[in-house]
Amino acid sequence: MISLINLRGIRSAVTPAVLMLCLGAGNAPAQNTTAPPVDAERSKQEKIYQARGELRLEGYVIDRSMSAYVRALPAGFAQALANLGPEERWLDIGAGQGMAILDYYSPEYDPRQAGRRERQIKKGRAVAMSIEDRRTPRWQQTAETLEPKQLQYVFGKPLREYSTEELGHFQLITDVIGGFSYTENLSLFMEKVLSLLTVNGTFYTVSQDVRNEAGSNKPHYAGEPFLSQIRNATGNDIGICAWLKQISCVEVSCDYKGDWIPPLETYRIRKTCNNVAVPPLKIEHYVAGTPPERVFLLANPAPAPAAKP
Ligand SMILES: C[S@@+](CC[C@H](N)C(=O)[O-])C[C@H]1O[C@@H](n2cnc3c(N)ncnc32)[C@H](O)[C@@H]1O
Repeated sequence: MISLINLRGIRSAVTPAVLMLCLGAGNAPAQNTTAPPVDAERSKQEKIYQARGELRLEGYVIDRSMSAYVRALPAGFAQALANLGPEERWLDIGAGQGMAILDYYSPEYDPRQAGRRERQIKKGRAVAMSIEDRRTPRWQQTAETLEPKQLQYVFGKPLREYSTEELGHFQLITDVIGGFSYTENLSLFMEKVLSLLTVNGTFYTVSQDVRNEAGSNKPHYAGEPFLSQIRNATGNDIGICAWLKQISCVEVSCDYKGDWIPPLETYRIRKTCNNVAVPPLKIEHYVAGTPPERVFLLANPAPAPAAKP
């Protein structure tokens, strides 16, 4: 039963003013504390992805607009979009209905308002990615007004299963409560994102309810853990930001938005060179949800070679 798997689907009442800041309605605490096998949770998660109509969980939000993206993502996202040349490319991972991309192509969306000085002749190219096909009639209508290569929707598998040959390279990649929040293999996910980014390209993303960079926050739901954790060898949650900062060939900035419900941490990750190495993570705990609850273990660093006598 779908309702049984939505362990994070009931949220406490919030005022309308607070609701405006909400990213999703589904992040209420999970009730089970023992980790069920990942396989069982994977199939529950698949049902969440595929649910349609009334069966779609309220917390599984698939239609965030461009303005919601601009509010949620780190400062600089709108400018990066405005700077995108006609041959340059934007990938939105976990795009749902692809509303933000559709808003980008609407004639009313003027990237110059985001700071572009010269007149934009033509907007960049965009690819929306989703596990399940959530396209609406508006997608088709927009596609008909654009050149074939300008707008693409890819679906049917998670990011990690795409090759660079299939997708090509991108100057800009975003993820608003998509694969970054849902994947059970975060290190492989980041490796893939960084292999798709051009040098100087930027990945903008967010996490809900995680230990912030300063370590100054508490889990949003009393008595519950943070939604995504990265534990080191001593079992301490180092937070997503600290792990991202261990990746080579990237410049990372993390910002905490404590006035969101649940609070958000945002990440701006610029690729600076091609020798990317992502510290590997192992999934330790995964409970299906919107988004799922995840604990990753940071693998021990390889032992230093023994000194020669
Ligand atoms: C909650 S919806 C968010 C949709 C959209 N970003 C929005 O804000 O409206 C989650 C999206 O992430 C996608 N997704 C989850 N895991 C993914 C993965 N590993 N790779 C690609 N897409 C993924 C789902 O298929 C879905 O399109």
